[in-house]
Amino acid sequence: MLSAFQTLEQELLARIVGQSELVERLMIALLANGHLLVEGAPGLAKTRAVRLLASMIQADFQRIQFTPDLLPADITGTEIFRPEDGSFEFQPGPVFNHMVLADEINRAPAKVQSALLEAMSEQQVSIGRKTFALPPLFLVMATQNPIEQEGTYRLPEAQLDRFLLKVIVGYPDADSENSILELARQEAITTEANDTDRIDAPLVCETAKSQSRAPAVLAQQDIFAARQQVLSMHMNDSVQQYLLQLVLASRHPQHWSEELAAMLDYGASPRATIALDRAAKARAWLQGRDFVTPEDVTSMLHDCLRHRLVMSLEAEAAGKTADDAIDLIVELVPSA
Ligand SMILES: Nc1ncnc2c1ncn2[C@@H]1O[C@H](COP(=O)(O)OP(=O)(O)O)[C@@H](O)[C@H]1O
Ligand SMILES: [Mg+2]
Repeated sequence: MLSAFQTLEQELLARIVGQSELVERLMIALLANGHLLVEGAPGLAKTRAVRLLASMIQADFQRIQFTPDLLPADITGTEIFRPEDGSFEFQPGPVFNHMVLADEINRAPAKVQSALLEAMSEQQVSIGRKTFALPPLFLVMATQNPIEQEGTYRLPEAQLDRFLLKVIVGYPDADSENSILELARQEAITTEANDTDRIDAPLVCETAKSQSRAPAVLAQQDIFAARQQVLSMHMNDSVQQYLLQLVLASRHPQHWSEELAAMLDYGASPRATIALDRAAKARAWLQGRDFVTPEDVTSMLHDCLRHRLVMSLEAEAAGKTADDAIDLIVELVPSA
């Protein structure tokens, strides 16, 4: 089981060059049954990463481009009237897939965002008086662009809390950039090699790009079994206390330092505690351990907390981010 996941991670790493953190976090979200919010500029392989992951596991993939004119029904689906017999038939929307990429989620208004986020937290969609269950394997990766502020709608805090992790992807380093170029050239040769054969082929809508080298597909059963193993992973008392202290420090910063207290208006919710527990366990499992170390906890802390903290106005004015506050928390709270 573990080796199948480690192989999957290696396969992804080979094709998503220099973004090992994004790849690891995708694996952790999959193992921890959580959703992912990814912030990063365009062209950083976010779409590529989810698309590849979906192609390597037994999963349907759907991308939804969020725009200002999108309606909630465009996400969840609609009931369609059938004049033949006067009945209504539910047409499931794009959310009814195993892996959903919600691209540029902050470009749609709150109503649309909440349609998706409700589906994420309830694992179901309610239309009128009917409720439709989403598949048991259901992973949403939402992206937002940090650069573009105009015409965007900030996700409300309560909705951000629904994401297990918020990952920030940055630009690759010079070496990786070179490998990305090599890989893109290679892939262009492979994908365009057959173009001459297709000149007269009829135009068809391609939903998922076919991959040149199809690796073994991970069955959903294996994912569910792995999740069970993650859930039953051991965490000793001192690590657990450390985890709790870290989250509590965000809520009662005045107990730790004035500097921290001045930075934070609101700390993380119990959802953050639960997320941190699960994410740390998933990381330990993925590394082949059957116990959680303090390092598992600290390494997941930023991604679990950064979207759940509310910074004070003074801190924001001084250019301080949630990550600065989390850094300070790690400094202040003694490790287990
Ligand atoms: N780290 C990377 N590894 C491999 N290819 C990359 C990487 N970053 C960018 N690319 C290339 O850039 C293209 C754009 O990536 P894409 O996933 O569409 O970006 P995003 O969704 O972040 O805007 C990809 O098709 C890929 O060819
Ligand atoms: Mg994209």
